[in-house]
Amino acid sequence: MALDMASHLYTIPHQRLHFLSSSSSLKPHFYLSFKRRMLQPKSSESTVLVRCTTQSSTAATQNRWTLHGKSALVTGGTRGIGRAIVEELAGLGAQVHTCARNETELDNRLRDWNRSGFRVSGSVCDVSDRAKREALIETVSSRFHGKLHILVNNVGTNIRKPMVDFTAGEFSTLMSTNLKSVFNLCQLAYPMLRATESASVVSISSVSGFVSLKNMSVQSATKGAINQLTRSLACEWAKDNIRINAVAPWYIKTSMVEQVLSNKDYLEEVYSVTPLGRLGEPREVSSAVAFLCLPASSYITGQIICVDGGMSISGFFPKHD
Ligand SMILES: NC(=O)c1ccc[n+]([C@@H]2O[C@H](COP(=O)([O-])OP(=O)(O)OC[C@H]3O[C@@H](n4cnc5c(N)ncnc54)[C@H](OP(=O)(O)O)[C@@H]3O)[C@@H](O)[C@H]2O)c1
Repeated sequence: MALDMASHLYTIPHQRLHFLSSSSSLKPHFYLSFKRRMLQPKSSESTVLVRCTTQSSTAATQNRWTLHGKSALVTGGTRGIGRAIVEELAGLGAQVHTCARNETELDNRLRDWNRSGFRVSGSVCDVSDRAKREALIETVSSRFHGKLHILVNNVGTNIRKPMVDFTAGEFSTLMSTNLKSVFNLCQLAYPMLRATESASVVSISSVSGFVSLKNMSVQSATKGAINQLTRSLACEWAKDNIRINAVAPWYIKTSMVEQVLSNKDYLEEVYSVTPLGRLGEPREVSSAVAFLCLPASSYITGQIICVDGGMSISGFFPKHD
């Protein structure tokens, strides 16, 4: 590789990294050294040192990509996308609290995480129940001493059927699990989020909040509502430096969609409307969530990021022209 700048040829293969320490009050810097060959007026060689970055700016960059010292609540963290989010945030240094309904599964997961060195705690909680949400927030407040930097509203469920066949109970289940839980957990966590002076809320939405999917009218209404709640709350809580964003996946390999995707013909149809031509992995969602929690995304609020292999932006791309 070579950079041709005016009459100078900078040859990169000869580069060496120099660290010039300073005994004076000057800050030390990193330098790259290049061999510079003069092409005009006559061929000659000299060494050029290019200052790359300072130690302090390296530290500042690193701070933007770490969650050390941050506390996080991730709902529904024992499986699927929630589990990947717990592991992503804990891997970036956060202390995480999670919840799920199945106590045995939660205990097993907590044991595994603690063996792996992740700082994760958990409690049994059904987030569709108001009293249990209140108890969860009390537990979190006591664990994190009244300060919560990150809230990830991951729990969500689905009932696939035509809208006219929905019972009142099924409608209520979807509303309380997917939407009321997000609204109420945000409300209950607000004093703890505000206390940090720099917090981030991320809710797991779905592409169904943007486009129509068969037999998902009610589920999509809950996700569409999450999208607009995200935008409205982002403006309402900007004064407290609490950022509100959402991540909207298409099909991700988790227990929730295992059954529907076991139908090979259905799966082929999923591939055919997904420009990347495959399903997503939970870690491909958790990385987007982590980004929205990091200081690196400090100017992003009110956004819904689709993690969908291009499904939601795809128009008409026939196989036969
Ligand atoms: N997978 C996809 O293709 C896909 C696509 C678009 C959007 N999403 C969204 O992504 C989110 C996560 O989905 P997933 O596929 O990872 O689901 P999943 O594999 O079914 O995992 C759900 C997790 O949440 C917990 N959970 C479920 N209901 C709960 C409740 N009422 N209270 C507390 N915890 C509960 C489960 O544990 P327990 O059962 O023990 O409670 C489990 O840990 C949902 O909001 C979903 O709508 C998923």
